[in-house]
Amino acid sequence: PTISFIHRDGNSERVEVSDGESAMQAATRHGLDGILAECGGNAMCATCHVYVDDAWVARLPAMAEDEDALLEGAAAERLPNSRLSCQIKITPELDGLVLRLPERQV
Ligand code: FES
Repeated sequence: PTISFIHRDGNSERVEVSDGESAMQAATRHGLDGILAECGGNAMCATCHVYVDDAWVARLPAMAEDEDALLEGAAAERLPNSRLSCQIKITPELDGLVLRLPERQV
């Protein structure tokens, strides 16, 4: 599958995702600016915060409690469509997913 990240300046970057990868892993593998992922995907840092495009929010699996709790400490404002990209496992159904980057991660 391929997913897109939209930067703050409006530019969008398409990223190819391998089977079983999280959105965060795909982003860091591509050296994408704007996802820090300091904890390496363990739902401990909140520096992989993204805003899920409205069209996709309802199509993602619900978040776990630890993700929910951690988002409270995200550097940028938490919005109803906030998620941790390391907790979004990309499946074929999520091909075309659009994620927007927050203004900051720390
Ligand atoms: Fe640390 Fe997602 S990479 S919480």
